[in-house]
Amino acid sequence: MSNIDTQLLQPDALGLDQAVQILQAGGLVAMPTETVYGLAGDARNDHAVARIFAAKGRPHFNPLIVHVQDLEQAQKYAHFDTNAMALALAFWPGALTLVLPLRLESGLAPLVTAGLDTVALRVPSHQVARDLLAHFDGPLAAPSANPSGRISPTRVQHVVQGLWGRIDAILEGGAALVGVESTIIGLSYPPLLLRPGGVSAAQIEHVLNASLATIHPQSAIVAPGQLASHYAPNAAVRLGVMQPLVGEIWVGFGPDCGGAALNLSPSADLAEAAANLFHLMREADLLAKGQASIAFAPIPSHGLGAAINDRLSRSAAPRPRC
Ligand code: TXA
Ligand code: MG
Repeated sequence: MSNIDTQLLQPDALGLDQAVQILQAGGLVAMPTETVYGLAGDARNDHAVARIFAAKGRPHFNPLIVHVQDLEQAQKYAHFDTNAMALALAFWPGALTLVLPLRLESGLAPLVTAGLDTVALRVPSHQVARDLLAHFDGPLAAPSANPSGRISPTRVQHVVQGLWGRIDAILEGGAALVGVESTIIGLSYPPLLLRPGGVSAAQIEHVLNASLATIHPQSAIVAPGQLASHYAPNAAVRLGVMQPLVGEIWVGFGPDCGGAALNLSPSADLAEAAANLFHLMREADLLAKGQASIAFAPIPSHGLGAAINDRLSRSAAPRPRC
């Protein structure tokens, strides 16, 4: 499936109109968000959702995040308890996804939740995503706009490289400012950190006034997208490296990585490193030319460092052989 005539749309009135028409007809539009670019389709339309899975080559058991305009819209699709309300009020619009009990009468395509009785909801803050949601006036299912298992897209050219010819349109929106995906919280008891992301666990615990539980990496997959190998470049990846091997592409962090080919943040700023992460992973992969390995310097694990280290360890995990 790689013969669709993909259009590149500007985020102006004309481009947004075209994007909405495509979505209403069950088509797929890649849209910018503040975390990563998303591949959007009408979350009420089974056919559109099925096309998202097909375009990404994504395993069908993996449910998608539903993007909505605001908390009021979100409440049409899920039940919010006190904790969910507190988190939505504190962090929406923004890089937080809440997994909540699905409303029976939600009208969402069953494929979007992969048959679960919960739904993942997010209100993005990127202006273009907000404009698109306002014009479309409905829920948009949107996983990251990359082939399944590969590096997430933070710039329009990443989407072009991964999905050109497989989707109907790409709405332009510049480089993603956060650069790692949203934090996913399951609102079970106790609240569960399903994926570290753009909002730190400490920020969330502060609002909840409680500790988050975490899932053991080897446990049954609760957030089904949390497969071990993910975000994979072509090259092999080594982590925590301050002394790279000869010929290895070294990606530094902080001022002490003078010999590094690339640096996630020369000033050791974790927000800058998150924003650069997926782009520099791609750059390093190009420099490695399919031969050398990529070595990342150690990243502190506090704040956004948890999300960065999560993505890095998945990029270094053994790859499935299919
Ligand atoms: O920042 C983001 O979250 C981006 C942008 C586009 O919004 N989206 C994104 O979507 O990262 P995706 O599909 O790549 O990741 C969604 C994650 C997966 O790990 C999936 O398994 C999990 O959310 N998920 C979705 N619905 C779920 C549910 N009902 N229960 C548990 N996990 C769920
Ligand atoms: Mg993804």
